[in-house]
Amino acid sequence: MKFLRSSAMAVLVVGLCGPAMPPPPAMARDDVPAEVAARRNPVGELSDRDVRYFAKQFKTKCARCHGPDGTGGGEEAAEQAVPPADLTDSAHMSDRTDGQLFYQILMGGGERCAMPAYGPESSHGWTEEKVWRMVAFVRRFAQPTGD
Ligand code: HEC
Repeated sequence: MKFLRSSAMAVLVVGLCGPAMPPPPAMARDDVPAEVAARRNPVGELSDRDVRYFAKQFKTKCARCHGPDGTGGGEEAAEQAVPPADLTDSAHMSDRTDGQLFYQILMGGGERCAMPAYGPESSHGWTEEKVWRMVAFVRRFAQPTGD
């Protein structure tokens, strides 16, 4: 009986102290609804005027974390629970769907990071269309240069 009890304890202890949980991966939220993740950006090419406008928005609202050039070196980057990704990295960005980028900007980082939400329900109150335009702007960071 005594033996049984201690082996039961051993199983319990091993179960509780099993392999350590891995640290959270450095990535955006992973709870994007499948239907949203599959969405294609409905806005077409940005006009020059749009590009200038969103460059300014990015500079004033996003650069403190994502860096002015999108590489992730903003002055608040080091404070983030997960580091802002390099938005100029085409391997990383081609892994992300338009819908995933849309949802992250719309809803913010959620539990994963302190990125604010910008969508209609947020204090920024951007329309969904404006969020999609920002997705199109963000995509420009990792556009193939053609060489
Ligand atoms: C307080 C810091 C902070 C601010 C401000 C911020 N972000 Fe983020 N953002 C993050 C972090 C941290 C992540 C998660 C890591 C990652 O994936 O880049 C993230 C993720 C993202 C992603 C997903 C990238 C990916 O890897 O899938 C996009 C797109 C994005 N941000 C765009 C923006 C835009 C556009 C703005 C401004 C309108 C903005 N962010 C403002 C911190 C911030």
